Amino acid sequence: VEVAKTLAQQAGDLKQLKAAIANFDHCALKRGARSLVFSDGHPSARVMIIGEAPGRDEDRIGRPFVGRAGQLLDKMLAAIDMDRTSEDKDAAVYITNVLPWRPPQNRDPQPEEIFMMMPFVRRHVELVDPDVVVLMGNIACHGVLGKRGITRLRGQWVEALGRPVLPMFHPAFLLRSPHMKREAWADLLDLKAKLKSLG
Ligand code: URA
Repeated sequence: VEVAKTLAQQAGDLKQLKAAIANFDHCALKRGARSLVFSDGHPSARVMIIGEAPGRDEDRIGRPFVGRAGQLLDKMLAAIDMDRTSEDKDAAVYITNVLPWRPPQNRDPQPEEIFMMMPFVRRHVELVDPDVVVLMGNIACHGVLGKRGITRLRGQWVEALGRPVLPMFHPAFLLRSPHMKREAWADLLDLKAKLKSLG
């Protein structure tokens, strides 16, 4: 973790941060993954979304949230007029994950793996400097807030990473539990309202 902290702090821009992660050999997940999945979307976005880890499709393509969960995420964002391909400040979103490498067979990331990579995530947020951060699911909450329990955490703004942070249900969870989409919808509206209130 100390090595990760030092490397992350030395990165002066997103390109250097990506290179620092690519050169970081202390996380075992790297060896089993095909791609380094760094981010998608526009870095001037006001909203930065932090997910869990790449899955099969993300590992193959090298971009976050491009599989089924990603398609649902895109629909959720479209419902509040946001779009990762947009360069318009109010519509743009920037997307990354806690883990840049796919865990074998999509197993849950281990706590050590999460904490090992968190310095890069923190630096990533500093460099993008979004107005708000959305944490998708328990792994992102574990990494950023140090706790799980998304059912209780979701929908409650907290201060972390130097800015307002909103935990939400992960779209992969919503695919399995579609009746929870009501809560997700409420959180999306809340996100939109927050951006408006911040001006
Ligand atoms: N789930 C995630 O958390 N991240 C991805 O990139 C894809 C699926």
